[in-house]
Amino acid sequence: MTLPTKFEIIQHGGDSYLAAVRLRDEILVNPASVVTTPEDVAAERELVHVAGFLDGELVATCLLVPEGRALRMKRVAIASDVQDRGIGAQMLHFCEDHARESGASELCAHARETAVRFYLKVGFATEGDYFDEDGIPHIVVRKAL
Ligand SMILES: CC(C)(COP(=O)(O)OP(=O)(O)OC[C@H]1O[C@@H](n2cnc3c(N)ncnc32)[C@H](O)[C@@H]1OP(=O)(O)O)[C@@H](O)C(=O)NCCC(=O)NCCS
Repeated sequence: MTLPTKFEIIQHGGDSYLAAVRLRDEILVNPASVVTTPEDVAAERELVHVAGFLDGELVATCLLVPEGRALRMKRVAIASDVQDRGIGAQMLHFCEDHARESGASELCAHARETAVRFYLKVGFATEGDYFDEDGIPHIVVRKAL
């Protein structure tokens, strides 16, 4: 069953932003132990921060970063107890709408090997070969808008 989730762009530095940082660092565990550092927080000031709320609780997040004509989704994370309930797909649609409104012509991401089938299901195509990022195989995925 799909869980209806409310998505919005949140302000950098606020309580929701801090909850989003906690969620992504909890979910996106990696062999290189890369987490969000104070330097990352400072560098993220100008980025678009997306959050999804279920009954007022932040359960989904990603960043949107301009990359040429595309917006790149980064640090994509859904809370573990509500994964596979349609929230990732809803967040993708929210990001697509935001990207179109901001004039981008595609969305892209570096997909973890374990998440590639999710991106394929929601209309992305892979590009090129796998490469290492933070000790995990990733591949570029793109979706034209
Ligand atoms: C990958 C992730 C973002 C997907 O979000 P989600 O809310 O769990 O996915 P949804 O429920 O919206 O799934 C949409 C479709 O993709 C499929 N899917 C989701 N995750 C999948 C996965 N890891 N492998 C294969 N299929 C997957 C679902 O079965 C569903 O298919 P359906 O429409 O036929 O039922 C989320 O599971 C997550 O945060 N995973 C851990 C962190 C991660 O890997 N982030 C991405 C880094 S690039």
